[in-house]
Amino acid sequence: MSSTIDSILIESRVFPPARKIVAGATVSGMESYKALCDEAERDHDGFWARHAQEHLKWRKPFTKVLDESNAPFYTWFEDGELNVSENCLDVHLENGNADKTAIIFEADDGKVEKATYRQLHARVCRIANGFKALGYTKADRAIIYLPMSIEAIATMQACARLGITHSVVFGGFSAKSLHQRVVDVGATLLVTADAQMRGGRAIPLKSAVDEALADEGGDIVRKVVVYRRAGTQVAWNNERDVWLHDIEAGQPDVCEAVTVSAEHPLFVLYTSGSTGKPKGVQHSSAGYLLWAKLTTEWVFDTRPDDVFWCTADVGWVTGHSYIAYGTLAAGLTQIVFEGVPTYPNAGRFWDMIQRHKVSIFYTAPTAIRSLIKAAQADPATHPQRYDLSSLRLLGSVGEPINPEAWIWYYNNVGNGKCPIVDTWWQTETGGHILAPLPGATPLKPGSCTLPLPGISTGVVDELGNEVAEGRGGFLVIKKPWPAMIRAVWGDEERFKSGYFPPELKGYYLAGDNAQRDADGYYWILGRTDDVLSISGHRLGGTEIESALVAHDLVAEAAVVGRPDATTGEAIVAFIMLKDPVPEGDKAEAIAAQLRDWVANQVGPIAKPRDIRFGNNLPKTRSGKIMRRLLRVVAEGNEVTQDVSTLENPDVLKQFTGVY
Ligand code: PRX
Repeated sequence: MSSTIDSILIESRVFPPARKIVAGATVSGMESYKALCDEAERDHDGFWARHAQEHLKWRKPFTKVLDESNAPFYTWFEDGELNVSENCLDVHLENGNADKTAIIFEADDGKVEKATYRQLHARVCRIANGFKALGYTKADRAIIYLPMSIEAIATMQACARLGITHSVVFGGFSAKSLHQRVVDVGATLLVTADAQMRGGRAIPLKSAVDEALADEGGDIVRKVVVYRRAGTQVAWNNERDVWLHDIEAGQPDVCEAVTVSAEHPLFVLYTSGSTGKPKGVQHSSAGYLLWAKLTTEWVFDTRPDDVFWCTADVGWVTGHSYIAYGTLAAGLTQIVFEGVPTYPNAGRFWDMIQRHKVSIFYTAPTAIRSLIKAAQADPATHPQRYDLSSLRLLGSVGEPINPEAWIWYYNNVGNGKCPIVDTWWQTETGGHILAPLPGATPLKPGSCTLPLPGISTGVVDELGNEVAEGRGGFLVIKKPWPAMIRAVWGDEERFKSGYFPPELKGYYLAGDNAQRDADGYYWILGRTDDVLSISGHRLGGTEIESALVAHDLVAEAAVVGRPDATTGEAIVAFIMLKDPVPEGDKAEAIAAQLRDWVANQVGPIAKPRDIRFGNNLPKTRSGKIMRRLLRVVAEGNEVTQDVSTLENPDVLKQFTGVY
C-alpha cells in the first residue's frame, strides 16, 4: 500500500453548540455523547442490542448480536426476523402518524404533490401487490432506474415489502452501465420511467433500458415496469413491458409484508473502486435500517415537526439512507425534489426552503460552491434574498467542505444560527460514521469532527498502527458496526482483500487519508486510490480509462482528477491516439468525439473536462503509468518532483494543448 499524504491547513475557528440547541437535543451535551461512547466501549454487543430492540419492530426477536466467527463476513442479529417496509410505514399507522405528511414532492416544473404515511403505505402496497401478481418474490432482484419521485421511493419500499433485493441505478448512467449492473446483479425485474424531467427538458430513460436489455444477458429481465412521467413516446415490447399504473390498477391498498431474516440483502448499490468494474455493495436489512434510523435521529437531531430535505438522488447511498429508509423509519416529513438547483434559476433551493418551511437541509459542498458563484453573478438568487428562518440545521456530505464554503453556508443560509453537520461516510458504511451531534459537538469548519457512539475509528500506518496526532494516515474502522457492507456482490475475494487487508489487523479500510488534531477531530485529506469525486459523485478513474481505450482511435489513456473550485475535482484525460498527436480543430473534434463516447459508455457525469493528447504516457521502467505526475501536469503546474524513475522524463513536456 502506498499513499500520497498531503498536509492541510487546519482551521482554528470553533463553534460550540448554542445553549438553546443543547437543551432540546436527542443527544444533549458532550457528557451524553461520551456516556453513549463509554456504554459501547464497555459492552459493544449490549449497546447495539439495546438500540436494535428500541428502534426496530421485530417479527422474531434476535438472540445473537454480532457474529464474528466468519470474519470479515460479519453478521448482526442473524436469527432475528423483520420487514424493513413495515418498520418504515406500518409502524406509523399505529403510532398516531398515519395522517402526517411523509413526502412533499416538488416536480421540476414546480408542481407539488403530497403523500401522508397512510397514502404512501397504500401506494407501496398496491405496487407490491402488482409485483407479486407478476410472480416476483424475495428470491428476485430488481433494478430501479427512475427519476426522483414518490414512485421511486414507493418502488424501493415495495421491493423491501416483498423482500426483493433492489439495486438503484442513477438516471445519469448510460445504457452500457445499466447493462453491466443488470447482468452483474442478475436482475429479473426492471422498473423505469419513460423519461426524467430536468431543467425543463425530458431526458429519456426507457430507451436506455431497451438498449441495455438488447445486449448479451439482458434477457434475464422478465418484466420492465414503466412509470409514465413525461408522457413521451416509447418503444414497447408487448411481452416484456408493462405500465406501472396498469400493474397497480385494481390492487388492494394492503399487502402483507414478507418476513425476512435480519441479514437478508435489502439492496445492492454499485460504486466505483480502484479497478475498472464497479462493485455491488451489498447491505443487510436489520443492521442497515437500524443505523439509517439512529443516525437520522442523532445527527439531524430530529423533532416531530421537522421538514427535512436531503437533496441527493436515490441513485446514491445518501438517497437510500436519508430519503428512502432512515427518514421514513424516523417518521419525518421530507421533501423529494425532481429537478436541478439552477432551474428556473439558482435561487431554486432557497425558494423551496422558504415555501415548504424546511427546517433541516442536507446537501453537498459542490452544490454550495456553485450556488455561491451563482449568487455572485445574479444577486437575486442570493440566499439572503429569501426567508430562510425555518431552518435550524444544515448538513454537508460527499466531499470535504472547504472552510470558506462552510462559513458562507453558515452565515448566508443558516443566518449564523444553524449548526452544520459535516457527515463523513460511504456507500459501504450504510450511514454516517464521523459526524457531529448538533446538541453536543463543538464544530470546526472543514472537519467532520468525531466518530459516532458505537463506532471505533482510527488513523493508521501501513501496518495498522495508530499514527501521531497531526500526521496523515489511512482512515480505518476498527470494530464491526451493524450497517457495514456485507459483501461485494458475487466477489468474495474483492470484499476481503479490498476492505480488510491482512496487514491492517482486520480493520475496515475506508480508502481515505485522514489526520487527527489535538482534540481528536478528524480531517479528511482525500482518497488513497484513483477514485474521483466529481460534484460529490464517486467515479472510478480506471473505469473511465477502460471506456477510453475501448474507443477505436485510442491506444492508451490515463485519467486523473484536478482540483476544481466548484465541482471538487474535474476529470482530466491524458490520451495517446493510435494516430499522431492531433492539433487545433482536429484535436477539438476528436476530444468532442471521445467525450460523447465516455458519456455513452459510462454516463454524462463521467465526461472528461480536459483532454490532453501526447505521443506516450509517463511510465516507470516497469511500465506503470505515473498518475502522480500527471496530476501535477493536470493542475497546470511545473513538475518539480523526482522524475528519475521515469523511463523518459521528457514525456511530461508534451501535453501542451488542453481540449
Ligand atoms: O472520500 C470520501 C468522500 O466520499 C467517499 C464516499 O463516496 P460514496 O460511497 O459515493 O458516498 C458518498 C456519500 C456518503 C468517501 O470515501 N466523502 C464522503 N463524505 C465526506 C467525504 N469526504 C470528506 N468529507 C465528507 N463529509
